[in-house]
Amino acid sequence: GSFETLAIETSGGVATVTVNRPDALNALSGKVVEELARVCEVLNRLGGTGTSPASTGVHGTADDGAWPVRGVILTGAGGKAFVAGADIREMTGMDADQAEFYARSMHAVTLALETVPVPVIACVDGFALGGGCELALAADFIYASERAQFGQPEVNLGLVPGFGGSVRLQQRIGLGMARELIYTGRRIDAHEAHRLGLVNRVLPAREELLAAAAETIREIATKSPTAVALSKRSINQATGRTTTEGLDIEARTFRAAFGTEDMKEGTTAFIEKRAAVFPGR
Ligand code: HXC
Repeated sequence: GSFETLAIETSGGVATVTVNRPDALNALSGKVVEELARVCEVLNRLGGTGTSPASTGVHGTADDGAWPVRGVILTGAGGKAFVAGADIREMTGMDADQAEFYARSMHAVTLALETVPVPVIACVDGFALGGGCELALAADFIYASERAQFGQPEVNLGLVPGFGGSVRLQQRIGLGMARELIYTGRRIDAHEAHRLGLVNRVLPAREELLAAAAETIREIATKSPTAVALSKRSINQATGRTTTEGLDIEARTFRAAFGTEDMKEGTTAFIEKRAAVFPGR
């Protein structure tokens, strides 16, 4: 479909989703949230109606032209911001019910990003503030350019993180630093974000940033797509659970991987000392 606030481009198995409201530093208006939800729905149906072996819950088979997209890059347009947060102008016109709906709608988007069966990499070139930082945290991991800036400045507005920051920031960087960033509203640069483990890699500028993310997606694309999808699911389902619960999820996911054609091909190729050619199911 066509989008007002997003640009979607697919090339070489990489889908790039660009938040495209540069005049407002890509702030997440209600329209952006709605369109992100639509994109997530499509990304969660990758591979069409075909479903891989019962109980894996991973969509897509090689037969129906599956895995046409092997990874997603999430970024922002205009060269100044990834996303500068929720749309402050729009928020001032909301009542409490609308504000809660806004938060919950974006929560659904972040959860949907976490169930996309291929890796999602946020490429942050410029400001990732408030809801922008929270959107990036819903990606599998974050790459940043030298001019990236991260922060949760909600306290400056008399607000609190509303798109998942009070949950996912502490998961990513630990409680102490998450508290300090949220209480001070302070901005950190790409290198500090890298030291904190918020960012996996720092690249010089936008071109290298997008190229590095695409390269990582291509590297992952040489692996079993079902194994990658099941790994992602296992990791996300374990987040926030106890060790015992997480290990139970892992055992069941391991079992699901065990029956796949990808597992047969991967182990056979190893024994035969050749490169695996994964059917993707
Ligand atoms: C609406 C925004 C915006 C935002 C920037 N703009 N951020 N509009 N919502 N979050 C608009 C500005 O109004 C301005 O429009 C244009 O984008 C360029 O921004 P400037 O401020 O002129 O740029 P600059 O001086 O370079 O400053 C950049 C900035 C600053 C430091 C990023 O824009 C800023 O502090 N923005 C707000 C960041 C923030 O507080 N985010 C958290 C929001 S709360 P005009 O029309 O004047 O050119 C949040 C809560 C999530 O995210 C949970 C909700 C449920």
